[in-house]
Amino acid sequence: MKPKVYLTRKLPDEIINQLSEKCELRMWSSEEEPVPRAVLEREIQEVDGLFCMLTEEIDRSLLENASNLKVVANMAVGYNNIDISAAKEKGVVVTNTPGVLTETTADLTFALLMATARRIPEASTYLRKGKWEAWSPMQLTGQDIHGSTLGIIGMGRIGEAVAKRARGFDMNILYHNRRRNQEAEDKLELQYAELDQLLKESDFVCVLTPLTAETKNLIGVKELRMMKKTGILINTARGGIVNEEALYHALKEEDIWAAGLDVFAEEPVSLQHPLLTLPNVVTLPHIGSASVTTRLKMAEVATENLLKVLDGEKPPHPVG
Ligand code: DGY
Repeated sequence: MKPKVYLTRKLPDEIINQLSEKCELRMWSSEEEPVPRAVLEREIQEVDGLFCMLTEEIDRSLLENASNLKVVANMAVGYNNIDISAAKEKGVVVTNTPGVLTETTADLTFALLMATARRIPEASTYLRKGKWEAWSPMQLTGQDIHGSTLGIIGMGRIGEAVAKRARGFDMNILYHNRRRNQEAEDKLELQYAELDQLLKESDFVCVLTPLTAETKNLIGVKELRMMKKTGILINTARGGIVNEEALYHALKEEDIWAAGLDVFAEEPVSLQHPLLTLPNVVTLPHIGSASVTTRLKMAEVATENLLKVLDGEKPPHPVG
């Protein structure tokens, strides 16, 4: 008998075929829309494996209804959507997809940093709205990237990959992390800093740490006040790490210069969200890892994790 698996989003055929070969597969057939909670609650009761996205809240109450469940394979590196301790208590293995999305997410982080510093979306809209009447000396002036100081909060794989890119722009790089990363310091000429020092000295503050109980609201009123008036905050990690109300006020009152956000506390972000009313915010819809190649690799890694556990083996990327 094949193990039963539920897949929470339609994925490319090659992934579906691979899963169907080894499992009795059921799935939510939309590519865009997340599976409704009621459907997930029903489906999870039966299955041995769940292949899910970061949009699904895999909490204790859901896990308590899953009597056969052996594995939750998350198609993301972040797993703040899953109650890891509840899964552990139930003996359910949780897996993620690290490594394959590092460079793509670092590319996007740097693109967002540049777009925010040089006001690229605003400048493009300016032109298309017919506002460009003449070249003028201080028109749409932004902040320099080359030679500035970048402060990276979270020196894991993606932090290192962003630092590597910053090296090419002759940036001075500070970082803050739970543990010092001596190897990265030596390789990339990074300087370790306490959070306060990093916030005070950086021209760009880049949030690249996972969302945990410890990092929730890590950047709030006090931290934003420490940043330079010309400072730019970039967040491509998770929304909850930066307090959005505090960020709104810091931007509105010009305590900081701009922000580039790929992630929000509530996703999709409401069009009524106050941050979306500010001209000095560049927003993206959580597309850090969104290249065709990388998203396919993430699906492959999640598939491998899931199938290994269902085969009674250790998966390549267990978490918690
Ligand atoms: C992740 O993997 O955690 C990203 O946020 C989506 O790629």
